[in-house]
Amino acid sequence: MNFSDYLEANLPKVESFHPHFNEAIAWILKAGGKHFRAKLLIGTAKAINPLCDPYPVALAVEFLHAYSLIHDDLPAMDNSALRRGVETLHVKYDEVTAILVGDALNTEAFRVIANSNLPPQIAIKCIEILSRNGGLEGMVIGQAIDCYFENKKLNLNELKFLHLHKTGALIAASMEMGAVIAGASDEECKSIYEAGLKLGLAFQIHDDIIDATSNAKIAGKPTNNDTSKNSFTNLLGVDEAIKIQNELESQIILEIQNKELKELISNLINRYLKG
Ligand code: IPE
Ligand code: IPE
Ligand code: MG
Ligand code: MG
Ligand code: MG
Repeated sequence: MNFSDYLEANLPKVESFHPHFNEAIAWILKAGGKHFRAKLLIGTAKAINPLCDPYPVALAVEFLHAYSLIHDDLPAMDNSALRRGVETLHVKYDEVTAILVGDALNTEAFRVIANSNLPPQIAIKCIEILSRNGGLEGMVIGQAIDCYFENKKLNLNELKFLHLHKTGALIAASMEMGAVIAGASDEECKSIYEAGLKLGLAFQIHDDIIDATSNAKIAGKPTNNDTSKNSFTNLLGVDEAIKIQNELESQIILEIQNKELKELISNLINRYLKG
């Protein structure tokens, strides 16, 4: 099954007399995006156990990720008018709608997992992993540091902390949840999570490189927007950032033992982290 079709068939909606809330929720989800985390989760799960059903949890990750993007684009944060090639929610509608659509997607993510057909212990494990990595100890503290330290220079270790939290954690969680759904051992889940953190760091370094070198038409979001941010390109320059990204990717490929998983990761890297 294609994840985009699954998402399209499972867009969150509410019965009410609000004139456009459902349309607003669908706005960012219909605009596309790479679905990198969903593909990673589904691919990881299927590489380990082709018979499992990771789709509801992949949907949950994309909901949570979309919420993080909607809030990231708000005037109080990155103040971006373009996302996935279309107007951001606060521009298309208003800030209230953008904040509340984000809130809804955040909570719907956990509802989707709770309502899935996964065995209860697996569902609870996924809820724990997603809340830990997408919340306070993951994406949220990363975003808080990203915004608080605008115009204040961090050192390389602090910058790694920032990127591992704001982006790395959710990407690592996607891989780990895939492994959990597939019934992998605790040890295998742990090593997959560690590889996922490296992949997430490489992903955010690549995102920094896009900001420094691409344009809004190709990226679907404003570029040259990170000039007052802590980023790998600002701290080390584009060439060094590319070098570190490439090194991380080589390490990940070496670390992953499962042959199908290795192939999945290298395909995703070639498709989304190059050019
Ligand atoms: C953008 O994420 C925000 C980062 C964490 C870098 P993606 O690059 O995955 O954005 P979409 O989902 O493809 O739009
Ligand atoms: C955002 O990082 C990471 C999130 C948790 C949303 P960025 O601010 O660099 O993401 P883009 O470049 O706006 O997509
Ligand atoms: Mg940001
Ligand atoms: Mg941003
Ligand atoms: Mg960025």
